[in-house]
Amino acid sequence: MITLFTHIKELIQVENSPKKMVVGKAMKQLPTIKNAYLLIEDATIIDFGEMTNLPPQKPDHCINLEGQIVLPTWCDSHTHIVFAGNRVQEFTDRIHGLTYKEIAERGGGILNSAKKLQQISEEELYQQSAQRLEEIMQLGTGAVEIKSGYGLTKEAEVKMLRVIKKLNKNYPITIKATFLAAHALPLAYKNDKKGYLNMVIQEILPAVAEENLAEFVDVFCEKGYFSVEDTELLLAAAKKYGLKPKIHVNQFHAIGGVQSGVKFKALSVDHLEEMRIKDIESLKNTQTMPVALPSCSYFLGIPYTPAREMIDAGLPLALASDYNPGSTPSGNMNFVVSTACIKMKMTPEEAINAATINGAYAMNLETSLGSICKGKKANFIVTKQIPSFEFIPYSFGNHQIESVYIEGKPI
Ligand code: NIG
Ligand code: FE
Repeated sequence: MITLFTHIKELIQVENSPKKMVVGKAMKQLPTIKNAYLLIEDATIIDFGEMTNLPPQKPDHCINLEGQIVLPTWCDSHTHIVFAGNRVQEFTDRIHGLTYKEIAERGGGILNSAKKLQQISEEELYQQSAQRLEEIMQLGTGAVEIKSGYGLTKEAEVKMLRVIKKLNKNYPITIKATFLAAHALPLAYKNDKKGYLNMVIQEILPAVAEENLAEFVDVFCEKGYFSVEDTELLLAAAKKYGLKPKIHVNQFHAIGGVQSGVKFKALSVDHLEEMRIKDIESLKNTQTMPVALPSCSYFLGIPYTPAREMIDAGLPLALASDYNPGSTPSGNMNFVVSTACIKMKMTPEEAINAATINGAYAMNLETSLGSICKGKKANFIVTKQIPSFEFIPYSFGNHQIESVYIEGKPI
């Protein structure tokens, strides 16, 4: 079925052939077409251009979008949306003065989520997670990466990854799975980190690979969690199974995780709230995408990733939500884009590039998503009638979405 969208006020992030990523100064450029048409056939974009150049058409459907803007759906390259219950108690504990670190040391934090997840059935976990997935799709997300890491036993990690696989099968949104068993040290291995890492490498990793449950591997490389040495041990083991790294680094301390990421040709290094000059230098001219998670900084009250410094130094940057029960209980990419502009001084053009094409790159999806390009998936956002695309970040806490198309269908 062919659908033609006409009189689009502005068609955002158009390109004639897919590029890999947008880097440095080029991030200030957001290619757009005013008074545009967009033609899709089933789940694919087949043409677009200026209304004045519209070739004669006999589409099955024609939709007039006067006054409305069309842009690719958000590509959220870092989430943990498969989790059980919530951690609202820790939220109020933090308001009363406890820190994220203190809560974790008392057995809260990731271990709290792991306990909850180990106790519920795969079906219940699926239902809770599906609800979150539907919520983010309504908010304009058309591709998402989801991590394991709240299981911390073979059984529970596999349960999480099977839920991700089932979500991918049942929903039109594109989903990528990441294996994050090295997220925290479970109680059973409290004084035996080596033992846990051996178990992950010798027992869980082969099972995950056997069922083809993940494309990427992640490690929480942080003081009190996993060291650079632990990280490299795990990345090397995962490499043997073909899993590409996307790692949590420099959230609270800069301990050399960025350099490990570069060394292991990580697809992305994420968080980066604490960046040293040498971390920025290490990322130059590499294939590793730095990913900022401003909603996490907002919620925890920790520093924001120094996006300005990084982009001005010539690095690319992607934006993602980090949706999880502890540090970011929100998957709203509209808020992420706003917060990047307001708190990190990214321009609206940079923020949109970071949340679309660069996010797609950070999931290995840049050839099929992240821009309006012939042959790419027909995943796009139709805004309400708004004066310009800058209204998207400007109206923080709200969104300007009228409808979301995923694989050519409104959801
Ligand atoms: O990306 N930093 C590690 N992992 C998550 C939060 C985990 C949690 O608190 O449940 C994050 O912020
Ligand atoms: Fe995270």
